[in-house]
Amino acid sequence: NEEVIILSIETSCDETACSIVKNGNEILSNVVVSQIESHKRFGGVVPEVASRHHVETITVVIEQALEEAGLLPSDLSAVAVTEGPGLIGALLVGINAAKAFSFAHDLPLIPVHHIAGHIYANQLEEELKFPLISLIVSGGHTELIYMKDHMSFEVIGETRDDAVGEAYDKVARVIGLPYPGGPHIDRLSREGEDTFNFPRPYLEPGSYDFSFSGLKSSVINTLHNYRQKDRTIDKADVARSFQESVVDVLTKKTMMAVGNYGVDHLIIAGGVAANSGLRSRFEMLCQEQGIKLSIPQLKYCTDNAAMIGAAAYHLYNNDAFGTLDLNGRNFIDI
Ligand code: KG4
Ligand code: ZN
Repeated sequence: NEEVIILSIETSCDETACSIVKNGNEILSNVVVSQIESHKRFGGVVPEVASRHHVETITVVIEQALEEAGLLPSDLSAVAVTEGPGLIGALLVGINAAKAFSFAHDLPLIPVHHIAGHIYANQLEEELKFPLISLIVSGGHTELIYMKDHMSFEVIGETRDDAVGEAYDKVARVIGLPYPGGPHIDRLSREGEDTFNFPRPYLEPGSYDFSFSGLKSSVINTLHNYRQKDRTIDKADVARSFQESVVDVLTKKTMMAVGNYGVDHLIIAGGVAANSGLRSRFEMLCQEQGIKLSIPQLKYCTDNAAMIGAAAYHLYNNDAFGTLDLNGRNFIDI
């Protein structure tokens, strides 16, 4: 049996990452350099700042990934890279590094869709069981995907405006919590009650799409109203009420998809998969309904290159190689 060893690169947002993965599930090295400290004072990721950091860091993470794995470029089978979606300037840094590496070491190049990576993060821990439903929730994405086999993706629902993580971060900012605010709201919510009963944006009956910007505005307007009237507001109650609304909508639509598509495996991934309210509700629902629930470890839920290597393994086996004119693409179908 041939060993497939893939070096993978991910630079779609604010993490510069390189990993080496064997046969799609054995991590030989996994290097992630976060730029979060540089973006904090702006309250969000600044694209130009992200690109510059990637340029400074990309060769360092590639060298470190090889060193930690104790491998030389000649030991590799291929080089994989996130081609999109993401910040275009950020993507291009990783793509150009991957193209140069592929050309210099005569290795096949494998373009990988970022969301496919998030889903395949789960394969680093266990086999995917098809058919399955996957919910991707991060700062940039909110997607519900049906998979009937490897590398077969049907997007059945997505956000029409803000991603869930984005809504978390914006609400947190107005409450006065540091960026990224998701984990802070999550923590605060455990000390509060759902007293505000914010709207649950379910959209049309049967829709798998999401919309969180109205909910976000409703939370922000409530905070402004209290402030204007000099009334004190219980921030923990605001956090809890917001989170309950988000969790209600995400779990209801996801379990509706699980039922309608008749799957018994559900995968949750992306940074918001760390949310304690979301996890415990999904655990309860899946247990009740006999559904197998998989949530990768947090370090594989947030952006990393190991997940890109995991997905690239199947593309390698299907000879789905790219060419040296590979470009970054923001609007690509998975
Ligand atoms: O996947 P990720 O690291 O980056 C991308 O956006 O691709 O996700 C980051 C997002 C941020 O919006 C952050 O606030 C959110 O995930 N997040 C959380 C929690 N931990 C991280 N949101 C809610 N609850 C959490 N515990
Ligand atoms: Zn991501």
